[in-house]
Amino acid sequence: MVQTYKFSNAATDFYFNSSLKELGKIIDRKHTFFITDQHIFKAHEKKFKGLNTIVIPAGEEHKKQSTVDDIILKLIQSKADRKSVLVGVGGGVITDLTGYVASVYMRGIRFGFVPTTVLGLVDASIGGKNGIDVGVYKNMVGVIRQPSFILHDLALLQSLPQKEWQNGFAEVIKHACIKDATMFKELEQHQLSDYQKNKTLLADLVRRNALIKIKVVQKDEFEKGDRRLLNFGHTIGHAIETQYALMHGEAVSIGMVYACDIAQQLKGFAGKERVRSLIAQYQLPTHINFDAAKVFEVLTMDKKRVQKEMNFVLLEKIGKGVVHPIPLKRLESIIKKLQ
Ligand code: GLY
Repeated sequence: MVQTYKFSNAATDFYFNSSLKELGKIIDRKHTFFITDQHIFKAHEKKFKGLNTIVIPAGEEHKKQSTVDDIILKLIQSKADRKSVLVGVGGGVITDLTGYVASVYMRGIRFGFVPTTVLGLVDASIGGKNGIDVGVYKNMVGVIRQPSFILHDLALLQSLPQKEWQNGFAEVIKHACIKDATMFKELEQHQLSDYQKNKTLLADLVRRNALIKIKVVQKDEFEKGDRRLLNFGHTIGHAIETQYALMHGEAVSIGMVYACDIAQQLKGFAGKERVRSLIAQYQLPTHINFDAAKVFEVLTMDKKRVQKEMNFVLLEKIGKGVVHPIPLKRLESIIKKLQ
């Protein structure tokens, strides 16, 4: 069943708990170009038979301008025009690249997503931010433009490596921390394997998380207020992710624990141990030895910095995130003591 959610300038059709077979009803294959990575293509080769498909190398290191140029050249060679539609089939790297290319190719063509990872389903495909990294600076270049549709086919998760399952649950835990204490309790009562074995439990969790993100973005698409809460764990997370070659979910998990530490210091937050232990329960890391000076340097380039302050997301309690401006000097001394 399709559900349409409106954003400021566009609407996105969500096909929850659907199937790739339904795609034929949404797009015209002749005018559609699928963008995917080598791993997904190999795992689901039959599903791409007869489709115009552009396959790129897998990995965050390819979320950069040269990959955008490669895709655009292929679109030009294939005579893609303003009526063409791009469909990104993959995780966050693929959806970011697809949305970005579709937003700049011929000044903007339609696009949709079929997320193939938990992270993609609950987070990366939703919200319209599509961009690329520049060196160690993540998502430094990009746009905010909503996809026309997002189709969920949970059967695609069958080929997902265990590490990627864990990676996605970092964002699920993040949503629970900032917005949903009930979901936090539910996560405490389960293990990752429960969601892997029980499709109904998983479909319910995916949908609830997608809705958390949709509602936050609907309220604040251009990140002036509530949308900043989605950055919980991401400020330190982004600063350590590239430097220490961590997966996004790993970096965010460590970032969430440090953010809880800062919340404890600045807001008297009492739930740090519960957050730390939930992250560990879902087999995600909670700590890393980092070079504080280097991390601080990357962190000051973060888009959440406003002149001499950083808008840091802290927790008041589990299920209630808040944005708290921290002067950079203060943040520097806090970060140096975090280890
Ligand atoms: N594409 C992810 C977001 O908009 O947050």
